[in-house]
Amino acid sequence: MKPIVIVNFKTYKQGRDAVDLAKQVEKVDKEILVGVQASDIYEIVRKTKLKVYSQHVDFLEKGRATGFVLPEAVKGDKAVGSFLNHSEHKLKLDVLKKTMKRCGEVGLKTVVFASSLAEALKIEKLKPDYLIIEPPELVGGKVSVSKSKPGLIEGIKKKLKMKFLVGAGIHSSEDLRIAMKLGASGIAVSSAICNAKNPEKKLRDLVRG
Ligand code: G3P
Repeated sequence: MKPIVIVNFKTYKQGRDAVDLAKQVEKVDKEILVGVQASDIYEIVRKTKLKVYSQHVDFLEKGRATGFVLPEAVKGDKAVGSFLNHSEHKLKLDVLKKTMKRCGEVGLKTVVFASSLAEALKIEKLKPDYLIIEPPELVGGKVSVSKSKPGLIEGIKKKLKMKFLVGAGIHSSEDLRIAMKLGASGIAVSSAICNAKNPEKKLRDLVRG
């Protein structure tokens, strides 16, 4: 099975740099999903054929709400969906439910993050399109979830009914291969790609296995 690969741009790249990174991702494989800042969706959708996700949306409705990002806004810019509940943008469960409902209403897919198996089990019931488990203490580090928490991935595989991805500290094709072998359907990666001197080469090497 071909792994699902998600590249989260976080706030490492924005504006022209984000467009440039997106073009490099597209050269590697246009089926890779990218999560970008809301302000970059419009441009990246127009300049690439990638499936572009917002890194977050809010559940609020049109009207008196300053500084929020509506699902309608990113849908209008042709995002495919939105990330929700990343460990760097945590939502209370009731807020997550409302936001997922709003995404469903406007036709946005949901990529929902969980920090643990216990949280993943709760989120699975909400039926996200993708569920990604990332131990927060490994995010942004050099040690991958695949190498340092194989037991966690195996446990998730046993307990979850839906497919899942894992992320945190993923750097190499070996990390991806181990994650797949343990039962994940793919990976989410950020710093290894966004901060690479040559992101295209780094990503190509990573997905090569
Ligand atoms: O969403 C992916 C991300 O949180 C993983 O970050 O830098 O550990 O690859 P990183």
